[in-house]
Amino acid sequence: MKPINIGVMGVGTVGGGTAQVLRNNAEEISRRAGRAIRLFMAANRDVERAREVCGDDVTVVDDAFAIVNHPEVDIVVELIGGDTIAKELVLKAIENGKHVVTANKKLLAVHGNEIFARAQEKGVMVAFEAAVAGGIPIIKALREGLSANHIEWIAGIINGTSNFILTEMREKGSNFADVLAEAQRLGYAEADPTFDVEGHDAGHKLTIMASIAFGIPMQFDKCYLEGISQLTAKDIKYAEELGYRVKLIGLTRRTDAGIELRVHPTLIPEKRLIANVNGVMNAVLAKGDAVGPTLYYGAGAGALPTASAVVADIVDVTRLLTSDPEHRVPHLAFQPDQLKDLRILPI
Ligand code: NDP
Ligand code: HSE
Repeated sequence: MKPINIGVMGVGTVGGGTAQVLRNNAEEISRRAGRAIRLFMAANRDVERAREVCGDDVTVVDDAFAIVNHPEVDIVVELIGGDTIAKELVLKAIENGKHVVTANKKLLAVHGNEIFARAQEKGVMVAFEAAVAGGIPIIKALREGLSANHIEWIAGIINGTSNFILTEMREKGSNFADVLAEAQRLGYAEADPTFDVEGHDAGHKLTIMASIAFGIPMQFDKCYLEGISQLTAKDIKYAEELGYRVKLIGLTRRTDAGIELRVHPTLIPEKRLIANVNGVMNAVLAKGDAVGPTLYYGAGAGALPTASAVVADIVDVTRLLTSDPEHRVPHLAFQPDQLKDLRILPI
């Protein structure tokens, strides 16, 4: 059988990690997918750097449209970020009948309804495990693991950069700006780190999880956002003296009045599990009516943990490619234009 050809757009932190995982674990990945998977093409502004990362057997270009328009590319992997060129590329890939894997939470939280509707029309898949909580397979857990449940609420630490900053400030008394610079150096932060420290990134991820858990369209504009940029070392110290840790929490829950979507710093009693999630680690709690509370923990950012989720999606899409398209379940598992009347609560 012909191998599945992957085209990666954006060979930065996550794109570089993805190339590395595809190469290092090629045999196992292909065995699990039931088909040989190969990195066929890559696009990056800095072509030389991408060539070094991807190796000589991969065609490297600077124009990502060459990937979405290439007849031999089966799965397009969008790892550029943002919602300008990335949106154009993803829509073009869908129009061309390509399946898409993306780690871009902003793109999905803001334009997901349009993107999923187009994908459904064209019968292609858009997979996005890496968009929420880095390497934690939380999308699979919510969509498949908890599919028997009425999900009541989801809450957790879903921005690695903020958690890294809060941890370093508490444990080492480090300065906010210095730790943020270190998070950028380590590849954890967004291209615009205000998204991390002002709660936008966590809001994007919460929007996506709420959409899956409650079967509602993406409504990022209804999410209450408050970040950690106003917190001082004193706030963190006082909280500790009172037996609490400060964590940036994203929370969504059903109430009789509607659905809450909110991100803000929260005081957590220090003995709680979630208070002890440190550094770049993320943790998500989800409560289903049948299973009760469940907890998911792992690295929330970084090249290899995020690549783990990207490549898992590539495997997943490859497996689904062999299934009957007529009976394929869309990735959101609901029609994007359904349930518009579900109300999001104002905060
Ligand atoms: P980077 O900035 O490290 O990588 C983006 C890459 O895209 C860069 O190499 C950049 O090239 C390239 N690029 C930008 N514009 C173009 C273009 N028009 N054509 C071709 N290449 C282009 O970002 P990350 O890898 O950190 O993030 C990528 C995506 O993954 C984002 O959506 C992010 O939110 C998401 N994500 C990131 C995680 C992380 O831990 N970093 C975790 C989970 C998700 P150049 O450098 O030459 O400009
Ligand atoms: N900037 C994001 C974070 C990357 O720090 O969590 C992972 O989505």
